[in-house]
Amino acid sequence: MKRILVTGASRGIGRAIAIRLATAGATLLIHGRDRTALAETRRMVEEKGADALEVLYDLEDPAQISTMAEAIGTQPLDVLVHNAGTAVVKPFEKVSLEEWCATFAVNVTAPFLLTQKLASGMLPGSSIVNVLSIAAKTGFPGWSAYCTSKFALEGFSQSLREELRPRGIRVMNIYPGATATEIWNTAEGDWPRDKMMSADEVAQAVRFALSRPAEVAIENLTLTNTAGAL
Ligand SMILES: NC(=O)c1ccc[n+]([C@@H]2O[C@H](COP(=O)([O-])OP(=O)(O)OC[C@H]3O[C@@H](n4cnc5c(N)ncnc54)[C@H](OP(=O)(O)O)[C@@H]3O)[C@@H](O)[C@H]2O)c1
Repeated sequence: MKRILVTGASRGIGRAIAIRLATAGATLLIHGRDRTALAETRRMVEEKGADALEVLYDLEDPAQISTMAEAIGTQPLDVLVHNAGTAVVKPFEKVSLEEWCATFAVNVTAPFLLTQKLASGMLPGSSIVNVLSIAAKTGFPGWSAYCTSKFALEGFSQSLREELRPRGIRVMNIYPGATATEIWNTAEGDWPRDKMMSADEVAQAVRFALSRPAEVAIENLTLTNTAGAL
């Protein structure tokens, strides 16, 4: 039986990943803060024949991350998907310290703390998936806090990969381009949603990477929009 945790599964890419990884016999631990939205993800996961457990914690708060890890328990995870993320999109002069720190808390510190607490029990053949972004490799105007956080997550995930390699745990990084989700709702500017990928495209890539034999690691997978970075 597979035990899979997906953070930020209440909507967008995380929900799509949870649904794509939901198969009979699997247990999906679906994380988020929005209880109603998570209940909808749960319904969709169960429709695929998997079991689902809702995990409601705020990743901005390290104390809640500790409680979350305790609630998840000591039964090892087969797959840990760090997907939850937040974006502040505005010129760097307008980014407040609070927004900067909140971006780092969710996008960098939460994956670090959760991995620290959950990876120790993971067995050879299990996998950690980091949802990064093309913004982990390239800077974009207006995206300073987001890009810096994703560059930082890139550094953490590359180091983590090498630390976990001797234990036979795969660390796989996914770099999506613009994807039509609610993360764009508060971004300053006009964004062409019709040119963006669907969340399900990203989820299918994650499922493909995870479906390779344990001795094969798709370590870095970039999905770009044909139209470019938008
Ligand atoms: N959309 C894109 O164009 C794109 C491109 C490249 C990479 N990505 C990355 O893909 C991941 C998913 O993004 P998305 O586009 O699906 O965004 P989204 O629709 O805004 O979903 C974000 C998810 O993260 C969760 N989340 C945010 N802040 C949280 C917090 N403080 N505590 C707990 N959960 C929190 C949200 O859950 P609740 O609101 O329920 O808490 C939600 O489930 C992110 O890491 C993002 O950086 C997105």
